[in-house]
Amino acid sequence: MQKTEVLFSKKMPAAKSFPSESVLFYDSILNKNPDFKKWASVFTFKIALKSGETLKTIDSLKQNLEKLAILDVPSTPELTFIAVGGGSVGDFVGFLASIYLRGRPFINIPSTWLSAFDSAHGGKNGLNLLKQKNQIGTFYPAIKVYLVEQLLASQPSERMIEALGEVIKISVIGNQSLFKFLEKNIFKLNQKLMYQNLPGAIEAKNKIVKKDPFEKLGLRRVLNLGHTMGHVFESHYGWPHGICILLGTLFSVRWSYQLGMLSVQECIRISHLIESAYTSINLSEDLAGVSDASVRQLLLKDKKRTSKSEIDFIFIKKIGQVVRKKVSVEQIIAEIHRQKTEY
Ligand SMILES: NC(=O)c1ccc[n+]([C@@H]2O[C@H](COP(=O)([O-])OP(=O)(O)OC[C@H]3O[C@@H](n4cnc5c(N)ncnc54)[C@H](O)[C@@H]3O)[C@@H](O)[C@H]2O)c1
Ligand SMILES: [Zn+2]
Repeated sequence: MQKTEVLFSKKMPAAKSFPSESVLFYDSILNKNPDFKKWASVFTFKIALKSGETLKTIDSLKQNLEKLAILDVPSTPELTFIAVGGGSVGDFVGFLASIYLRGRPFINIPSTWLSAFDSAHGGKNGLNLLKQKNQIGTFYPAIKVYLVEQLLASQPSERMIEALGEVIKISVIGNQSLFKFLEKNIFKLNQKLMYQNLPGAIEAKNKIVKKDPFEKLGLRRVLNLGHTMGHVFESHYGWPHGICILLGTLFSVRWSYQLGMLSVQECIRISHLIESAYTSINLSEDLAGVSDASVRQLLLKDKKRTSKSEIDFIFIKKIGQVVRKKVSVEQIIAEIHRQKTEY
């Protein structure tokens, strides 16, 4: 897989850093940001996008390909696509760049913490199909990812909480020092501290991606910690992805402890960190709100399914070490019942 250059900067990169034949795609919400507006004004070819899951659809792909045709962008090898936005914009533009004229260079400038910490790295993009997430996609890493402090700091604070699910997840999977930092600073977290922790979190993700870039060996699947139940909550309640990952990770913590894989001390430490990050968390109540039939239906659709009724579930052995194990849908449902009553 092509290597991505990750660049850290205080301000947006100068327009001259990009090929002159570039198309800028950006989240239309950034029109409210005067610094961004000024920066974007120099681009000849630009398209504003409405972010969210409806952007990641075939209908929207068709509409935007048509917009490109109307803009009459040059069909040269230098033609480069730049995305500025959150994960939905990055996933959409990354996919478009991978198929347009059989692939043109892609540059990603994430504007949410979730995308800066997670989705902009690892080369995956995706479109949804019939409301199922990321059913269509390619592995197509950005040639460059710019992490711009000023842009990220312009977000409202709730975006920070939404990213914490993935940040805590990656620290549990493979970065003990990040975990300790979060434990110590969770109530003091601000945008500056978030920015400072980007390199460590990205490195931990990239280390895993490198072992299995195209997800052929299953090794990359450990990044799905918290995502099996997380996706159930996301589809059922419609809550932000990062919040659902916090819940899903807590579910995995409790199950790992129950199976004797995780020590009581580490179970308490991880649970405490998750509960501190999102103080209104109530996993037992949230589990009780989803019927067995819904869980069954959502899990059977899950991409981590290995056969009709088996799922690759990620358990935690200790902070910094996770393990992949096949479980049946019925085992997950039995564990949901246990957690609903025992916590
Ligand atoms: N490709 C991957 O590896 C990967 C990994 C994780 C998540 N994802 C995808 O990422 C998406 C979620 O990411 P997200 O939360 O960034 O989504 P998003 O793009 O929908 O952005 C969330 C919200 O933040 C707003 N926003 C963006 N930048 C802003 C800014 N600077 N200031 C104020 N508001 C701003 C958006 O308008 C939107 O309302 C999902 O579609 C998910 O499937 C992909
Ligand atoms: Zn995720």
